[in-house]
Amino acid sequence: MICRVSGHITMTMLLWSTGAAVALAASPAPAEGESGMVVTAQHLATDVGVEVLKAGGNAVDAAVAVGYALAVTYPTAGNLGGGGFMTVRLADGTTTFLDFRERAPGAATKNMYLDDKGEPVPGASTDTYLAIGVPGSVAGLEAAREKYGTKTREELIAPALHLAKDGFVLEQGDIAAFADGNDMLAQDPAAAKIFLKDGQALPLGATLVQQDLAKTLEAISQGGADAFYKGATADLIVKASEANGGILAKPDFEAYKVRELAPVECSYRGYDIVSSPPPSSGGLIICEILNILEGYPISYLGYGSAETTRLMVEAMRHAYVDRNTALGDPDFVKNPVEKLTSKGYAESIRAGIDPYHAGVSAELTPAGFGESTETTHYSIVDKDGNAVAVTYTLNGSFGTGKVAEGTGILLNNEMDDFTMKPGVPNLYGLVQGEANAIEPGKSPLSSMSPTIVSKDGKPFMVIGSPGGSRIITITLEAIMNVIDHGMDLQEAIDAPRVHHQWLPDRVYIEPRALSPDTLRILAGQGYRVSVDEDWPIWGEAAGILVGGRDLDEIATGEGPRYVGAIDSRAAAGSARGY
Ligand code: DON
Repeated sequence: MICRVSGHITMTMLLWSTGAAVALAASPAPAEGESGMVVTAQHLATDVGVEVLKAGGNAVDAAVAVGYALAVTYPTAGNLGGGGFMTVRLADGTTTFLDFRERAPGAATKNMYLDDKGEPVPGASTDTYLAIGVPGSVAGLEAAREKYGTKTREELIAPALHLAKDGFVLEQGDIAAFADGNDMLAQDPAAAKIFLKDGQALPLGATLVQQDLAKTLEAISQGGADAFYKGATADLIVKASEANGGILAKPDFEAYKVRELAPVECSYRGYDIVSSPPPSSGGLIICEILNILEGYPISYLGYGSAETTRLMVEAMRHAYVDRNTALGDPDFVKNPVEKLTSKGYAESIRAGIDPYHAGVSAELTPAGFGESTETTHYSIVDKDGNAVAVTYTLNGSFGTGKVAEGTGILLNNEMDDFTMKPGVPNLYGLVQGEANAIEPGKSPLSSMSPTIVSKDGKPFMVIGSPGGSRIITITLEAIMNVIDHGMDLQEAIDAPRVHHQWLPDRVYIEPRALSPDTLRILAGQGYRVSVDEDWPIWGEAAGILVGGRDLDEIATGEGPRYVGAIDSRAAAGSARGY
């Protein structure tokens, strides 16, 4: 065993000499389970998933039930009015990916968020009915259940229905999640009626009952996705949209289709990564960064060292140029998938990295480029070893903050993920190009990265996170922290983060992510490193490791079968095994 924490040398040696495995970590112990594991951002939804597994459901059944449950218990990001992605790795090694992201309405146009001078109209792509993409979550959950689940629709919707109809008690973590949204929710009468009381935030211990949402869930339970897309729910959303200057139309709902796509696959130091393909950038960009970093002895250079940080930042800088300029919805854009996942391309990028000085983002701008927030991730593994990673979202916290009267459904503001104008940053500061321009029926480019890592043909890690453009680096760093730095899962997820996304040309770090000495070395090389005051702490990763808390324990073959960890940043979440 490698001793990673000098203060624990004596204890390590002692335990080592007795042959017992020990995980040294600056975090509480992660959850353990022998038959299954569910990790989500809201503890009641975690419980729903565990109960489905205990009742004989598989990981996809549990993921579907959790998806519906989070729409009730975690309205910040859990949703029926948004969209997302599901990465699946079945026990026999088959992998697949369901894309149920929002699509632009048929009446959407490239310049719909610009005024007559061609300038962006503030808030148009985030705070208005024009911000709403055609939701995909219900179609996605139902497609997953029909193709890969074993339980009935009624069985999987029942727990969510119960939580909506009878309500659930708000705990401290729930209150914290609402804190971001109360002001916005107060602006929309239909939302305020549900989520506020007399215009004030719901207090700790209040019971949140959502009768309209219960009615919608009941309709889906009885009539399936058609009840949403072809029935009264779509009618009510279209009516609200028409009354408030939106462009959603019934045919947009009727035409909605889930896409089943081949996931992006690559390898890193002998581990196989399976992650999200376009319309997400996540899998490709994680693979590109990992391919670049594979050429360096990251483990030897160490977590948080100036050299490791510098190499990560340069890899991120290069990969995010590709993300922001070359990628888009695969039905509209030819994505350079092979190039971005190729080891040769990574080698050519490594060859151009200056060993002494910070790269300059402006110099990487491709020719012709004229130009608090929430999502949620959950990870599930079942008794047979089927693994599911789901990230779904309304985009911003509570999306637009608007509820279509009578539905109880919060509506997304996913359209902001498109390029509203080349060169103009979106909610996450992403400066994007033509490949991600708005077109009817197109999905905006995402960063969501539900990821499953396997080793020697067996599942090894399930991981993902919210965090807008930072999802990619959050997921990447959790993987590196386990594989390169030997951290246990909880520590790997909790460890302070570093992020660079090409533009702005800044290295963002969480508070105390780097020591003062490290910061001085990086500053001397020309890096501008700072805590982002608008978003100092980011992400809520949810992960599972198979076979132990860390690599050392997995190597003994004596660790718990499943280990789960919810980010300590996710106040309402839980990891639960059984
Ligand atoms: O799809 C995307 O990349 C974004 N809409 C995700 C938004 C998100 O993660 C917000 N949470 N912090």
